[in-house]
Amino acid sequence: MANHFLILALLVSCHALASTNAEEETGFVGPVDRKTLGLQRKHKLSHFRFYFHESFTPNNATTVTVVQPLPKYNGTTSFGSLGVTDNALTVRQDRNSKVVGRIEGFVAATSQSEFNLLAVLNFAFTQGKYNGSSIAVLGRNRLSLKVRELPIIGGTGLFRFATGYAETNTIFLDPKTRSTIEYNIYVSHY
Ligand SMILES: *[C@@H]1O[C@H](CO)[C@@H](O)[C@H](O)[C@H]1NC(C)=O
Ligand SMILES: *[C@@H]1O[C@H](CO)[C@@H](O)[C@H](O)[C@H]1NC(C)=O
Ligand SMILES: *[C@@H]1O[C@H](CO)[C@@H](O)[C@H](O)[C@H]1NC(C)=O
Repeated sequence: MANHFLILALLVSCHALASTNAEEETGFVGPVDRKTLGLQRKHKLSHFRFYFHESFTPNNATTVTVVQPLPKYNGTTSFGSLGVTDNALTVRQDRNSKVVGRIEGFVAATSQSEFNLLAVLNFAFTQGKYNGSSIAVLGRNRLSLKVRELPIIGGTGLFRFATGYAETNTIFLDPKTRSTIEYNIYVSHY
């Protein structure tokens, strides 16, 4: 029994020593305690669902094209165009329903053969315990599919170390006036 403790103590001190050495060698990396960062032991898996409502009309646009497509692709894949977006996130499809945050980001048409977007989006929450936290999405939005999947690449606040995926679905779209887009986010976080 005493031996076990001795071995355990040795292992612990060896581990501590190894970390200290690594720290000394590099001078810029060291271990950190989860509790110090306010992280719980276990990841949670959560499903968020919300909607946003773009306006394309010039006087109150929430999504704007800031770079036009290359002329050759105008009217087909829009290759080369770049848009910026900032919209309220609502809990229901009704655009007058409760606002829980904002989606801010940019999308670029990055395919010469299909209408595909590279989407770089931040979902910033403004309600309850999520107020101030955000989820970052970066991926390929393949508009020819009914439901598109994009990776979650991280987050801030309650979403530090977040991973997961988002599914997006166009509920309504009229390129001249407005859209309603649904997002389902499946996220593993602390
Ligand atoms: C934006 O303007 C259009 C046309 O002027 C109008 O129909 C629409 O309701 C407005 N949208 C918002 C969200 O104010
Ligand atoms: C693309 O087409 C639209 C609509 O026909 C036009 O307004 C716009 O100027 C065109 N853009 C380019 C870069 O050719
Ligand atoms: C969210 O946080 C901001 C900044 O801390 C604060 O001004 C705002 O009142 C908060 N909103 C809610 C709904 O708690």
